[in-house]
Amino acid sequence: MSGEKMVKFVVKRYDPEKGDFFTSTYDVPVRKGMTVLDALIYIKENLDGTLTFRYSCRMGICGSCALRVNGKATSICNLQVLELGTDTVVLEPLANLPPIRDLVVDVKPFFERFRSIRPYLIRPPGEPEEEFRQEPEVFKRYWPLSPCISCASCLSACPASIDDVFPGPSALMTNYRFLIDTRDAGREERLKMVGDTVWLCTACSSCSLVCPKEIDVASAITEEKSMLVEEGRIARRIADVLENAMTYHNPLGRLQAKRLEWAEGLEPPLPLARDVGKAERLFFTCCLTAFEPRHQEVARAVLQALRKAGLELATLGSEEWCCGDHILRMGEVGLFEELAEHNASLFERYGTSEVITISPHCYYVFKNEEPYRGLGLTVLHYTEVLAEALSSGRLRPSGSLKGLKVAYHDPCFLGKRSGLYEAPRAILASIPGIELVEFGRNRENSFCCGGGAGRVWTEEAEPEKRPSIHRLREALDLGVDVIATSCPFCICMLEDAAKVLDVEEEIAVRDVCELLAQVL
Ligand code: FES
Repeated sequence: MSGEKMVKFVVKRYDPEKGDFFTSTYDVPVRKGMTVLDALIYIKENLDGTLTFRYSCRMGICGSCALRVNGKATSICNLQVLELGTDTVVLEPLANLPPIRDLVVDVKPFFERFRSIRPYLIRPPGEPEEEFRQEPEVFKRYWPLSPCISCASCLSACPASIDDVFPGPSALMTNYRFLIDTRDAGREERLKMVGDTVWLCTACSSCSLVCPKEIDVASAITEEKSMLVEEGRIARRIADVLENAMTYHNPLGRLQAKRLEWAEGLEPPLPLARDVGKAERLFFTCCLTAFEPRHQEVARAVLQALRKAGLELATLGSEEWCCGDHILRMGEVGLFEELAEHNASLFERYGTSEVITISPHCYYVFKNEEPYRGLGLTVLHYTEVLAEALSSGRLRPSGSLKGLKVAYHDPCFLGKRSGLYEAPRAILASIPGIELVEFGRNRENSFCCGGGAGRVWTEEAEPEKRPSIHRLREALDLGVDVIATSCPFCICMLEDAAKVLDVEEEIAVRDVCELLAQVL
């Protein structure tokens, strides 16, 4: 029939008799307007009657049809095949839920988590039934959180949900939806219910990215944390990090006077904005990078590469405070504002127009949060600057890392949150000799290292429940020598995972600039 296009469907199916997965491939003639669910129904009716999948309403309401399409969890009854823009579509069952048969998973664990937060209005006992009144302003706040169809896509994508003590993104978001509904009388109970587990959320934003109803689930969870912080209901391990940031202006609790130690001995010395009175192009170090010897190595490699590319930079040294991203994602809004206002005032004082960051967290917060955003700064991640210098020829690799097999891990705040996927890959691709391979879960479907929202300093889950361990196993399965990444927090989490699994001899974790530095 004219107007049809053949699309290959690769379906990962679960065989309950064998307890294992197998793959079936089907060629489907796809017409304009045909959804992924239509394609499955076509396969079932014309090609393979044994293929099992679940659906009901076919209107994007019941949530029963969700599965992973080319790695991304979503409902499929309103997802058009041609809009995917690929000739091959890979379908897999949702993750983080037990498979039953083919593409069907057991959703009971999802609904158990969801029910545990009492997803309905809690009213005082014995109160007579009467009409509820709601102010439009309150309604406007919780209405955007109400279209959840319980499809479990967010649970499938969520790194924290590999730990079954975590209620899951939709449950936490729905709990928050009732917390801000003035008709609900369950505030005390609701805050208690999520009190300790909500801190497992890494704020990676995977839940918001996959939600077929485009609910900003991640922000709702962060606001829920803020409610807990405001009431002082903070787990000890979280409170310690916040206290450090409050007292020392960095979450590690180190002395600010030592913030420039990483740059000692550099030739020429890195100018301090305070000494030269200006810093039009500012190198923002990040707390982890400034204080931890492992990450200080990265800072030196990045700075040397930027200098080789011809950039003149100044830095804030001991005047630099934490950018506040982790603090904000932990829900401490007031402390974030204090840190951010301090840094923003320095940017103004020193006439800064461009900031280059090492950490994707500094990068994200400078671009997206006030008061930073209002300064109109050009904010660049160092990978953008170096990728441009390589493509324009201002940097030319001269050596080779022959035979080194490398997989790039996308940091969530650089990738999923900021959409910056190609620059780090371009740097790696420019290094002669490297064999660059991709994780199965990459770019916007990448799997979080588990270190965001302060979890880098508070991890206490048993190893099997840590996202970093799962990610490291993926790299081991790929048989790579190196996981390259471009975030100090990812390096920290993945190196810890390598220690826990005792594979430090087998696999290394490196910043992309550390690899580049070897051939410059
Ligand atoms: Fe109901 Fe897709 S079948 S949401």
